[in-house]
Amino acid sequence: MSIENKADGGKGVVGWIDDRFPMTKLLEEHITKYYAPKNFNIWYYFGALSILVLIIQIVTGIFLTMNYKPDGDLAFKSVEYIMRDVNYGWLIRYMHSTGASLFFVVVYLHMFRGLMYGSYQKPRELIWIFGMLIYVALMAEAFMGYLLPWGQMSYWGAQVIISLFGAIPFGIGDALTIWLKGDYIVSDATLNRFFALHVIAVPLALLGLIVAHIIALHEVGSNNPDGVDIKKHKNAEGIPKDGIPFHPYYTVKDLFGATIFLIFFFAIVFFAPEMGGYFLEHANFVPADPLKTPEHIAPVWYFTPFYAILRAVPSKLGGVLLMGAAIVVLFFLPWIDRGKVRSVRYRSTAYKWLLGSFVVSFVVLGYYGLQVPTPIGTFISRLGTVIYFGFFFGLYFISKNEKTKPVPERVTA
Ligand code: HEM
Repeated sequence: MSIENKADGGKGVVGWIDDRFPMTKLLEEHITKYYAPKNFNIWYYFGALSILVLIIQIVTGIFLTMNYKPDGDLAFKSVEYIMRDVNYGWLIRYMHSTGASLFFVVVYLHMFRGLMYGSYQKPRELIWIFGMLIYVALMAEAFMGYLLPWGQMSYWGAQVIISLFGAIPFGIGDALTIWLKGDYIVSDATLNRFFALHVIAVPLALLGLIVAHIIALHEVGSNNPDGVDIKKHKNAEGIPKDGIPFHPYYTVKDLFGATIFLIFFFAIVFFAPEMGGYFLEHANFVPADPLKTPEHIAPVWYFTPFYAILRAVPSKLGGVLLMGAAIVVLFFLPWIDRGKVRSVRYRSTAYKWLLGSFVVSFVVLGYYGLQVPTPIGTFISRLGTVIYFGFFFGLYFISKNEKTKPVPERVTA
């Protein structure tokens, strides 16, 4: 069969498809004629890298599922079988476990870029909201995935986190924890439902949210390190003067970023997959034992800033509420920041201090969330919690009448 389609004027296979499906239109709109600001810097790699890690997680996840058994008696052994007997099973599993941690590294850097350049401000509020929904889904995905190896930390980590819902008063909390576990304790029923959610439900939601995130981004256009609106200055053809087509300029740039990232990724996979117990905790090499609580239970590093906030509050309910608030408050950032200037480059010194102390508090909370509680650790966690929330209060108040620097009309080099 000829690939030329004479009936439609000889436009070939592409023309044939275009008459039936908007392939060229979609490619142009989102890739070849999507004009992105020409001043993207290193911080703009992390969106594309998040997509790369997502693909790694899905592909390795599919192969893990072929040999994993979601059964309280078999799960731990099936993971050992993957590690020792399945061809390249060790590689697939270490890629998946390393991918989980690096997903959060990449997403945290991606979010920080948003804070630095005010990418959540008008008109990009929805990009941010979809981003936050992705973040919450990602946390759920990681939490449920961690139960699957059915090691001591999988088991007791899930037990501790689910029991937090028990803090809700009027008997609601207790009923809720039983409902979530599907049993009175974390058991085979819990493992089965977490498997179903981890393997299909949450990844589907994640994919949908990421598509929405990118559609919203392409509707309004990308922000940039100067935080200026490139659509204000267009040439005769209506193309932003400070814009360049995403392809080939940023496809090539992202390919370079992906290469560097993969070198780093495989260095961890091959040489330090446990990352000293931060990526794969030591206690998880011991099978789950419902009768034996490990001495020190701590979630994986990416949850520990919130875990530290939880532990900083003496009352269980108060801790749970404050921990929830630490995440919920981020959704409201576009309205908490009342500033007119987006990029940190042109914002006040007060803003820079606030942002800096926010990052330090997050890292310090993350560190103390990993440690066994001590009086000094609790004190520092409390201080960190105050600084964490102080960022949002401070921002609300300083942003209204902030003394900013003049923002350039066009992007700087
Ligand atoms: C799986 C997770 C995610 C993926 C695959 C993803 C993907 C992307 C991509 C490809 C871009 C455009 C390229 C870039 O600006 O780097 C982008 C932009 C953006 N993302 Fe995400 N994202 C994810 C999570 C998040 C999260 C958790 C947030 C914040 C809560 C967020 C907020 C933003 C914002 C505000 C922009 C616009 C940035 C700008 O134009 O300056 N994203 N995202």
